Amino acid sequence: MDSLLSVEDIKDDVKYILDLASKIKAGQVEDKPLNGKTLAMIFQKSSTRTRVSFDVGMYQLGGRAIFLSSNDLQMGRGEPISDTAKVLSRFVDGIMIRAIKHDDVVELSKYSDVPVISGLTDLEHPCQSLADMLTIKEHFGSWEGKKICFVGDGNNVCNSLLLIAPLLGMDMSVACPKGYEPNENILKTANKWAEENNTQITISDDLNIALDNTDVVYTDVWVSMGDEAEANQRKKDLSPFQVNSDLMALANDGAIFMHCLPAIRGQEVSSDVIDGECSVIYDQAENRMHAQKAVLYYYLKD
Ligand code: CP
Ligand code: NVA
Repeated sequence: MDSLLSVEDIKDDVKYILDLASKIKAGQVEDKPLNGKTLAMIFQKSSTRTRVSFDVGMYQLGGRAIFLSSNDLQMGRGEPISDTAKVLSRFVDGIMIRAIKHDDVVELSKYSDVPVISGLTDLEHPCQSLADMLTIKEHFGSWEGKKICFVGDGNNVCNSLLLIAPLLGMDMSVACPKGYEPNENILKTANKWAEENNTQITISDDLNIALDNTDVVYTDVWVSMGDEAEANQRKKDLSPFQVNSDLMALANDGAIFMHCLPAIRGQEVSSDVIDGECSVIYDQAENRMHAQKAVLYYYLKD
């Protein structure tokens, strides 16, 4: 069954899905296209945006969503993922899952007879990257020739951005300390796609190099869910990479600031930047719902 676990899964349809998202946001698709459809939403980690945007998105498309905390599922007591996938497939039309381990989502999708949509794993956050690209297009009018710089920890959010940026004609850099580089396999794929699409990918611990000619400055928390044991070391290593007004000054005039949220003001970003004029964080958060409605339409509509 076709699933969305990685940006790789929608490589050839990214533009189609984002165009659909703009149309859905503008009210240009039929009313209630997912009438009678149900989405199971499994959460192994906390969530505000992903949970609410998928739930409201399903409702607005005419369907419904069921929230399932993994603590309440038999899966939390050791029921195999394969049985969970096969049983849920008999009840629902799609499964959204936020998982601790990416491999568990791969396993779920292997045994599921309905589409599985990742709402974040330790490796990627594909739905976030779709919302981010929708926001960039709305702000600048196009992606081609623009550059996004991800600053900080080369994490799940960074990995999905690295994959989606070249597909849309954007250059991307990652400014991170040594040891915090993005996933090696993702980087290999992203570099290949960048070459095919004539775009650039740069990884550097030098802020001047990474932020040169940048239109979008993006950051995320230094301590992702699951990294709590390393919190002190991470805060120390990543502190030179705080996005503040000095760092923003290295980007282009008119550059915007983005963050997937939740954010910690005073750590990865200063309050004056995240709450300042260049910040588009709330448009970005709203677009989670519009982008995911397009994903739901794409995967669940008959
Ligand atoms: N950005 C994001 O996925 O937010 P939540 O953790 O609140 O879902
Ligand atoms: N990188 C963060 C993103 C949260 C939406 C995490 O995984 O916790």
